[in-house]
Amino acid sequence: MLVLGIESSCDETGVALYHSVDGLLAHRIHSQIAMHTEYGGVVPELASRDHIRRALPLTEACLAEAGRRLNELDAIAYTQGPGLAGALLVGASVANALGFALQKPVIGVHHLEGHLLSPLLADPPPTFPFVALLVSGGHTQLMAVRGIGEYQLLGETVDDAAGEAFDKSAKLLGLGYPGGPALSRLADAGDPKRFTLPRPMLHSGDLDLSFSGLKTAVLNLVRQQTPLDDATRADICAAFQEAIVDVLTRKCLAALKQTGMQRLVIAGGVGANRQLRAALDDATAKRRMQVFYPPLSLCTDNGAMIAFAGAMRLKEARHEYSYCAKPRWPLA
Ligand code: KG4
Ligand code: ZN
Repeated sequence: MLVLGIESSCDETGVALYHSVDGLLAHRIHSQIAMHTEYGGVVPELASRDHIRRALPLTEACLAEAGRRLNELDAIAYTQGPGLAGALLVGASVANALGFALQKPVIGVHHLEGHLLSPLLADPPPTFPFVALLVSGGHTQLMAVRGIGEYQLLGETVDDAAGEAFDKSAKLLGLGYPGGPALSRLADAGDPKRFTLPRPMLHSGDLDLSFSGLKTAVLNLVRQQTPLDDATRADICAAFQEAIVDVLTRKCLAALKQTGMQRLVIAGGVGANRQLRAALDDATAKRRMQVFYPPLSLCTDNGAMIAFAGAMRLKEARHEYSYCAKPRWPLA
């Protein structure tokens, strides 16, 4: 089965071809970051217009790379939500137009299910069941995953997502947009012990998380230390990163303990953070547990995870067109 996947929920157009036997045949991403940078964040109207420009050329490029033709597709998967309404409608329109013309099934995929299953594209893939930590710019959730479509929400952020906290703190530190990767790079040069930042909800007794207090603590620190010199900026980054990594790691361990599961899966953009990976590798190894990550190129938004989730769902898909966008859509 050959499945085309289209991701257009936010500021990346991702297209990929996944084959149920041969695996991932091609994947392309066009990031709009440069376009949105001058506005300090994603401008929804510009995002939609750019998805329109990119979707078909990226599809052609994937087909050419895989040496396949459009009429060889068995299904088309697209991100149905959650995300920006206009941006989602572009992927929905392209997918449904292709499906209608080719008379093939069209599968609306949940963006977070895509992230959640993306570590299954790694070698070796994890087996079910596992605890998944979804950490992106829009979501921070812990899920118990027992199979495809069997997701139980264990806990989630009560305010900002972890990636959002990275981005907002980076902005306070004058690091541009999206600041997560820049903040993390600067943190490597800083001293994490010079400042101590709070670990919100660490002892809440449940698996919920909170990051807005951490962002406020960064704001207070920035005000206290202004004018910021380079070393102080790096030290604040290091303290921030250490606090967030500490909370995420300890909540993951608590989720593993609560469910009795032995495998942890990390998905979403913040999963690219090296410090987080090092802490999770260390914590799970000590407990003889396993941790799995998607390939680095598939941590942030991409079409491969949508094609893969679509392929997993293909047996359920019928020739009914699912032409809709769901900007707000809980996974579990
Ligand atoms: O999954 P993703 O591409 O998009 C969403 O669905 O949100 O995640 C993007 C988020 C952004 O907040 C970005 O700053 C963060 O992931 N991010 C990182 C790193 N790389 C991306 N945060 C911390 N360290 C990184 N290395
Ligand atoms: Zn995402």
